[in-house]
Parts: sequence; structure tokens; C-alpha cells
Amino acid sequence: MAYWVWEEAFSVGIAVIDNQHKRIIDYINELNNALVYRDSEKAKAVLSYLVDYTLSHFSFEESLMQEAGYTMLEPHKKVHESFIKRIDFFKERSLNGEEITRQLMNELQIWLINHIQHDDKDYKDVVIEMLEKKQISAAKQTANEGWLKTLVDTFFK
Ligand SMILES: [Fe+2]
Repeated sequence: MAYWVWEEAFSVGIAVIDNQHKRIIDYINELNNALVYRDSEKAKAVLSYLVDYTLSHFSFEESLMQEAGYTMLEPHKKVHESFIKRIDFFKERSLNGEEITRQLMNELQIWLINHIQHDDKDYKDVVIEMLEKKQISAAKQTANEGWLKTLVDTFFK
């Protein structure tokens, strides 16, 4: 059974963002499996993908908010930055030989649930409006076409 299951309540109504949040949840589940099976090599590898992916996701989100002219972009960026600092603190502890995987995973989960349901839902309307102006429907977002594809490719290579 998966450790964390996506729920409709997490949806911000923007398919491309929802899909990225789902991917983060998949990584967290994979990480949990590695921990349950005490596969520390796998855990290390997944943790690094998870962190990389999350950082790319933040940058991607910031670009969407910027394109949409979202007025709360700067405060939202600050929230991302403070979380990146928190991740760096975990990385440092890990380099010092501390076992941080489980704790980081738990924090990431709690933080994301909170962030998705509050901060991310706040940019929803302006970003949807911007995507509609560019005629990027939910289906097009999922198919990863056009303007959005270029943006996805910029951050997720
Ligand atoms: Fe965000």
C-alpha cells in the first residue's frame, strides 16, 4: 500500500501543477518503500531525485506565477526559499553522517500538504486565467504542448 495517496482535495485545478505534485508524492512513496526495505542505497538515490525534482517544481511554479503577473509572487518565492534552506540544512546534517531520510521525508510531506492547500491554491485563479489566454487547456497541459512545453523543458531536463 502506498504511504501517501493523492486526494482530489490537493488539486489546485491546474493539471500541469497537479501532475508535478503527484510526481513528488510518488517519489515520497518510493522513498518510504526504500526505508521500509532498509535499502539505504536506493533511499539515498531517491532522496536526491526527490529534492532535485522539488526544486525544479518550485522554479517552474514561480515562472508560471510571474507570467501570470501574480501580485504575491515575491512572498511565495520567499516561502520556497525558506524551504530550500531547510532542505540544505538536512543535506548538511546528512554529510555529517546523520541519518535524516525519514525526518526529511516527514517534513516534506507535512510542508507540501500545507503549501499546496494554502499558498498554491492562492495563485490558482490568475494562473488559470493566464493559461486560458494562451489557450492552454487541461488536456494540452497533460499532453505537454506548446508554450508550456518550453517552460517544462527549461526546468525538468
Ligand atoms: Fe509553491
